[in-house]
Amino acid sequence: MKKILLAGSTGYLGKYIVEELLVRKMDFKAIVRNPQKLKGLGLTSSQIIEAQVTDRTSLSGCCDGIDTIISTVGITRQKDGLTYMDVDYQANKNLLDEAIKSGVRKFVYISVLHSERLTHLKICQAKERFVRELQDAGLEYCIIRPSGFFSDIKEFYEMAKKGRAYLFGDGNKKVNPIHGADLAKICVDAIFQEEKDVEVGGPDVFSHREITEIAFEAFQKKIKITYIPNWIRLLMLRIAPVFLSNASFGPVEFFLNVMAMDMDAEKYGNRTLEAYFQKLRKKETFS
Ligand SMILES: NC(=O)c1ccc[n+]([C@@H]2O[C@H](COP(=O)([O-])OP(=O)(O)OC[C@H]3O[C@@H](n4cnc5c(N)ncnc54)[C@H](OP(=O)(O)O)[C@@H]3O)[C@@H](O)[C@H]2O)c1
Repeated sequence: MKKILLAGSTGYLGKYIVEELLVRKMDFKAIVRNPQKLKGLGLTSSQIIEAQVTDRTSLSGCCDGIDTIISTVGITRQKDGLTYMDVDYQANKNLLDEAIKSGVRKFVYISVLHSERLTHLKICQAKERFVRELQDAGLEYCIIRPSGFFSDIKEFYEMAKKGRAYLFGDGNKKVNPIHGADLAKICVDAIFQEEKDVEVGGPDVFSHREITEIAFEAFQKKIKITYIPNWIRLLMLRIAPVFLSNASFGPVEFFLNVMAMDMDAEKYGNRTLEAYFQKLRKKETFS
C-alpha cells in the first residue's frame, strides 16, 4: 500500500485530510510541531512525527519509505513572526528536499486560486516560488489551487452576528467557497491522478452580497451592509505597510486584494454554505 506523509495536518484543511485518509484506511503519517493538536482525531502515536518543517535538520529521514507527500503547510492566521517566504516557500522546500533525497514518487501541494497571477503579493510570491521548485524537481506533482475555504468565509458569519457587514465595492465580486471535507477528497484523489494543476471551488458561486445575505439568514436578522468604496481599500493597502510588520502585512495585503477579485473556480463537492452557517449557529445556540 502507498505510504503517505501529510504535512499541515493540524490546520483546517489538514484535519479533514486526516479524516479522509482514515476513512479510506490509507497508510499515512502526519508531521506536526504540536502533537496535542491532533488529539481526538484517531491517530496512533506511531502515525505522528514531531518535527519543525521550518528546520530542515529536524526533517531528516521523515520521507523514508514514503510514496506521496501532501502539504497544506502555509501561514493563514499563525502569529509566529515568520514570513510567507519562511513557511509557504522554505518549509515546503525543506520537505521537497527530503522527498527528493528519499526517492518519494509524488508531491501534492495546496496553493491558492490565481496565485500564479498574483505574484506581486507576498503570499503568492512565496507559493509560486515553491511551485517552480516543485515543477523542476523531477518527481510527480499536483498543485491544487482552491478558492476560499469555509473557515475563511466564516468572517461573513461573524459580521452578521455583530449585526452589520462591511463589503468592498458593490459586493458583486464572486467566489465559490469550498468545505474542507470536500477539498480533502480532491487532495487525496490527487495521489492517484495525473492532473498537475487543479483549480477548484465549492458547489455554489455567490457574490459577496449573497454570502452576507445567507449569513444574516442564519441569525434571522435584518440585513445591514455598509459598502466601502474602492478608494478606501486602495488607501488601506498604501497605509498598512507603514504600521504593520512584514509578517503582519502579508495576510492583510492578500485579503484586501482578493476581496476585489472574482475567486470562482471549477465547482466541486456538495457541502453548502447555508448548511455550514446554520450548523455554526446551532452549535453556538446549544453551547
Ligand atoms: N483558508 C483559505 O481560505 C485558503 C484558501 C485557499 C488556499 N489556502 C491555502 O491552503 C493551505 C491550508 O490552509 P488552512 O486554512 O488549512 O490553513 P491552517 O488552518 O492555518 O493550517 C496551516 C497548516 O500549516 C502549519 N504551519 C503554519 N505555519 C507553520 C510553521 N511556522 N511551522 C510549522 N507548521 C506551520 C500549521 O501548523 P500549526 O497548526 O502548528 O500552526 C497548519 O498545520 C494554506 O497554504 C493556505 O494558504 C487557504
